[in-house]
Amino acid sequence: MLVPTSQIRNTSVGRPDQEQFEHEVNLHGFGCRIFMFFFYISNIVAVDGKSQTFGRVLNPIKLGLKQEKLSHFRVYWHDIVSGPNPTSIRVAGAPSTNKSKTGFGAIVMIDDPLTEGPELSSKLMGRAQGFYASAGVNEVAALMNMNFAFMVGKYNGSTISIMGRNKVLTEVREMSIVGGSGLFRFARGYVEARAKKLDYKTGDATVEYNIYVFHY
Ligand SMILES: *[C@@H]1O[C@H](CO)[C@@H](O)[C@H](O)[C@H]1NC(C)=O
Ligand SMILES: *[C@@H]1O[C@H](CO)[C@@H](O)[C@H](O)[C@H]1NC(C)=O
Repeated sequence: MLVPTSQIRNTSVGRPDQEQFEHEVNLHGFGCRIFMFFFYISNIVAVDGKSQTFGRVLNPIKLGLKQEKLSHFRVYWHDIVSGPNPTSIRVAGAPSTNKSKTGFGAIVMIDDPLTEGPELSSKLMGRAQGFYASAGVNEVAALMNMNFAFMVGKYNGSTISIMGRNKVLTEVREMSIVGGSGLFRFARGYVEARAKKLDYKTGDATVEYNIYVFHY
């Protein structure tokens, strides 16, 4: 094979290898520092005496986490603004909020019933507790931050935490499930919200929530 001498020179020049070597040396130094850090930490723990099991690796089975599954739930969320017992109340706003086209800056606290069917009189499945905030200057977009606290059957007492962007005027709004408790420990997933009913006079609204959640 004819190999141009320039290529031979390129492979035999020491520079790239040397750079890599220096790189490795640096990594080694970094590793050393990490080791020293943990050595230092473990000394503190040893002196403290009590916290020797501050951190340890657990077998998920021991926590009862056997098989992750995907569940779907559907509930109807009722934002009741009017009447003597509102479940949705505005608690804060900026001086400019009332002048804003989008209500930018308003914060609304909610304890909204979640029902099995679209009618408020249908079976109560839980409550949506949290707040939403008007987060869009030029568009109607809310930051939703709420826990769905379930109250029926084996789900009684378990919660799903939802945080996401709600572009209120679009047909389907997707928000994240960022965690959960009880039967929803280690939850992750998303919800889809669709408006079912909006009373323009009172401001009361019913929204269908489809919940898609991975949990154990
Ligand atoms: C803005 O409007 C709300 C009612 O929607 C009222 O309670 C509040 O006092 C108003 N705030 C200001 C600063 O005008
Ligand atoms: C749910 O749990 C609460 C508190 O543990 C209890 O008072 C209530 O009766 C339970 N509801 C149902 C429907 O099981």
